[in-house]
Amino acid sequence: MNSTTVSANITPTPVTISTMTITPAAPVSVPSGPIFDKGLANTIVAETQMSFIDGGKGVLEYVGIEIDALARNSTFEETVYLLWNTKLPTKAELDGLRSALQAEYEIPDAIYDMIKSFPRDAVPMHALRTLVSALALHDLDADACGTDAAGLAAAKRTSLRLVAKTPTLIANFDRHRQGKAFVRPNTSFDIATNFLWMLNGEKPTEAMSRGLDICLILHADHGLNASTFAARVTIATLSDMYSAMTTAVGTLKGPLHGGANEEVMIMLDEIGSMDKVESFVKGKLERKELIMGFGHRVYKAYDPRATYLKTFAKQIATDTGNLNLFNMSQGIEEIVLAAKADKGIFPNVDFYSATTYHCLGIKTDLFTCMFAMSRMSGWCGHCIEQLQDNRLIRPQAKYTGPHAAPYVATADRR
Ligand code: ACO
Repeated sequence: MNSTTVSANITPTPVTISTMTITPAAPVSVPSGPIFDKGLANTIVAETQMSFIDGGKGVLEYVGIEIDALARNSTFEETVYLLWNTKLPTKAELDGLRSALQAEYEIPDAIYDMIKSFPRDAVPMHALRTLVSALALHDLDADACGTDAAGLAAAKRTSLRLVAKTPTLIANFDRHRQGKAFVRPNTSFDIATNFLWMLNGEKPTEAMSRGLDICLILHADHGLNASTFAARVTIATLSDMYSAMTTAVGTLKGPLHGGANEEVMIMLDEIGSMDKVESFVKGKLERKELIMGFGHRVYKAYDPRATYLKTFAKQIATDTGNLNLFNMSQGIEEIVLAAKADKGIFPNVDFYSATTYHCLGIKTDLFTCMFAMSRMSGWCGHCIEQLQDNRLIRPQAKYTGPHAAPYVATADRR
């Protein structure tokens, strides 16, 4: 199918008011009908004040602040405040958000019971999607969100709960599948520390908490990526925040989106050692297979999150005795860049986050859940933006089937 853009030029007409003649500044070009834009790469369907991406230059900003400055100086909680309020918090405002989140860490007993009923070999993203949806059954506010002041306040309360409870869902599902007792959240910890506490049943070192905190900052928001778009489509029908987040988790799961970080780790395991990197990667390129963790719909330069994660991955790999993983990753990068950099194929956020999560002691099949744990904040922020200026999102499909087809009776069909 070919892409077609149909536009009509509207010639400016001079308007005379009293003694002044005002001529519109320039002709405007507007589409005279729907355009075909497969993958929606050239279509803007929403406005956001949360994150800005310049894919050509490799820039990512949250509310105007470069991602690198946030990764170095901020915390996940502060980043959540920034995204939801489009300003950095005062100390009192940050303390207020921290306490409000901590008060919502715990999940209902019925949800713990539900986790116990899950098969131990369940795919973690299936478990997370189901649990996020189930939270709605225990929230009397679930259907209170809407576009007026009361509805927006309810959407914000629900957002807080979703961001606070998601780590509890993930960590305790992981404990259940290993046959371990649940660990209840510790409401004196920040989100990163609390997650590792529940996951491992012991307080993490400061370096581990900070490492996870940085990953959470880097993944929190990223324009209108596939899962964020899916969340906005759902909330735009005036459904509810739990439905929107369930949609988003399901969309993130795919290997072309959030699932790529798991695929990167599987690839590193498959390669196994530095001496096999070259033949593995060159073989894949020759067969025109995708190398997971490379390429991006928007970035045609180095993903700035990958720049930061590369430095961080090297440090944590060194500290935890996993330098081999980092060296293999760097070896893969060199070969892919030599072959593909001129086509704008560079490492994306998933590539070095695989090594980082592994070194933090997180199991490979939980990597996409880690992404969801962070992106929940961006998804919620986007849904609130959508509710503030809502219009049903309803694109069109180009029909390519037959017309005027006869209805043939069953007995006469061949
Ligand atoms: N490895 C090898 N070649 C690649 C890769 C890759 N990872 N990514 C793109 N290319 C090639 C394509 O085959 C294509 O080549 P061609 O022009 O010879 O046909 C060219 O680069 C352009 O790629 P597109 O498919 O047009 O890129 P698109 O914007 O549609 O897809 C995507 C982007 C889906 C991310 C793609 O790069 C990919 O599949 N990457 C691997 C999966 C991955 O890492 N996903 C995570 C993305 S980041 C995130 O969601 C958080």
